[in-house]
Amino acid sequence: MVTKRLLAAAAALLLTAGGAVAGTSGLTCKEEVGKKIFFDERLSIKKNQSCAECHGPEAGWTGPDSYINNGGAVYEGSIPGRFGNRKPPSSAYATQSPFFRLVNVSDGMFVGGNFWDGRATGEKLGNPAADQAQGPFLNPKEQALPDAACVVYRVCNSADYGMLFKQVWPGACDIMWPATIKFESACSDPYQGPFNLDSMTRAKVNVAYNDIAYSIAAYEASKEVNAFTSKYDYYLKGKAKLSDKEKWGLDLFNGKGKCANCHISTMEQICASGNDCKDSACADPYSNASDYCGKTYPLFTDYTFDNLGIPKNPQNPFYYQPDNPDGKKWIDPGLGGFLKSRMDFKMYADKNYGKHKVPTLRNVDKRPYPMFVKAFGHNGYFKSLKEIVHFYNTRDKFPTCYSGDPREKMTCWPAPEVSANVNRTELGNLGLSDMEEDAIVAFMKTLSDGYMSYEY
Ligand code: HEC
Ligand code: HEC
Repeated sequence: MVTKRLLAAAAALLLTAGGAVAGTSGLTCKEEVGKKIFFDERLSIKKNQSCAECHGPEAGWTGPDSYINNGGAVYEGSIPGRFGNRKPPSSAYATQSPFFRLVNVSDGMFVGGNFWDGRATGEKLGNPAADQAQGPFLNPKEQALPDAACVVYRVCNSADYGMLFKQVWPGACDIMWPATIKFESACSDPYQGPFNLDSMTRAKVNVAYNDIAYSIAAYEASKEVNAFTSKYDYYLKGKAKLSDKEKWGLDLFNGKGKCANCHISTMEQICASGNDCKDSACADPYSNASDYCGKTYPLFTDYTFDNLGIPKNPQNPFYYQPDNPDGKKWIDPGLGGFLKSRMDFKMYADKNYGKHKVPTLRNVDKRPYPMFVKAFGHNGYFKSLKEIVHFYNTRDKFPTCYSGDPREKMTCWPAPEVSANVNRTELGNLGLSDMEEDAIVAFMKTLSDGYMSYEY
């Protein structure tokens, strides 16, 4: 498998270039430079948007604006008025996702990748999170830079961390920038680019752009981001006690609520860097990847895809975007949409229409202050954990109603955004009482990182 070789190459680089520990942060130099890039607002067309603008650590690495979350839940890009179509998922724990691939031919079942629809597959850089990291900088609805050369130019010339980047990636910035292009101004102009670079310069830019992606992925995989310091982690280590309600919620999560069918709550065997040992890779003793296998604390996802029948979020700003010819009739095709774009997977598109990747529930309740609103689901339809648990519990028990009905979210639910492929076996009518719903919510609140155990 090509991907495995790429992984080994990436891992070898990790050991040489990024192995040294930088300063007192506890991060390696490569992780540290990835962090600087992640938080650098200058890496956007108007120098006003970093990755953290949509993935704030204080909000569990997802959207940090309570007002936006309470409405459309989709974030504006660097250019005002430009919106994508989905709610930002957590960027933490995303590095644990295996390569995107077909796991069951007869069911057309897929696993892995990054994004709600898995389209950052890991095929390009041997790591789905690195593939993902190359998207936002150039996405016109996100950081919107006109050319990858702009990202490389601004990183290499950063007064703050340009030196560190060169140290981690020797030679990456040895680029003869053509004098004919005024990068300072051209990179702030959405009508410029992609630039006409000679093939030598373009090749060097591409290599440096890959190095930037590997740096970000290294930071995202670091202990600072994938912290595993929630109350539940301490509980698993025997260093914290769950309250009676939280323990009851855990039992329901694993049992009557069926949540753990998809959001796995127990220790697992996995590989780092987007590989996966449940089947081939790590079981193979000759595979380089086996060095990176190990047990992990639960990730609360199995990285498969499902259609829960979540209703549309009518406040999604994408309905009013000029590049959306369907207007309010637009439907998010989820995984099916991505598969349709691929010759090799096209035939599985229908079976996966409307399905989205199972998100991790780590930090699902993490918020900067108690009244801060978080949105849940790929379109942010749900505004509280209670709402989404009530939906799992009663979707099929209550009648369908129009969006805006005063009973909505209490005793009726609007129709699914996509009616095909809705999972009707694992959710919809769970028979949970109101108190049982609350207990599941209480359990999910134990998944926020940064819990201090006083029982050492
Ligand atoms: C304008 C908001 C915005 C910005 C800026 C942004 N993201 Fe995202 N991010 C999103 C959205 C929305 C998605 C989901 C998109 C989809 O699934 O189609 C996403 C998805 C992701 C994921 C996938 C998580 C998973 O579990 O699949 C990662 C990782 C991520 N972003 C990291 C980054 C990094 C790194 C940057 C900066 C280079 C960045 N994001 C910049 C909004 C943003
Ligand atoms: C059949 C698999 C499956 C089961 C069972 C399941 N989930 Fe999910 N869960 C998903 C998928 C898939 C999504 C994303 C769906 C979407 O956005 O369209 C999701 C989303 C969520 C989210 C939103 C997270 C976010 O970041 O937006 C929460 C919270 C959640 N589930 C909790 C639960 C709880 C609690 C249960 C049990 C009552 C449960 N899930 C059962 C698959 C499942």
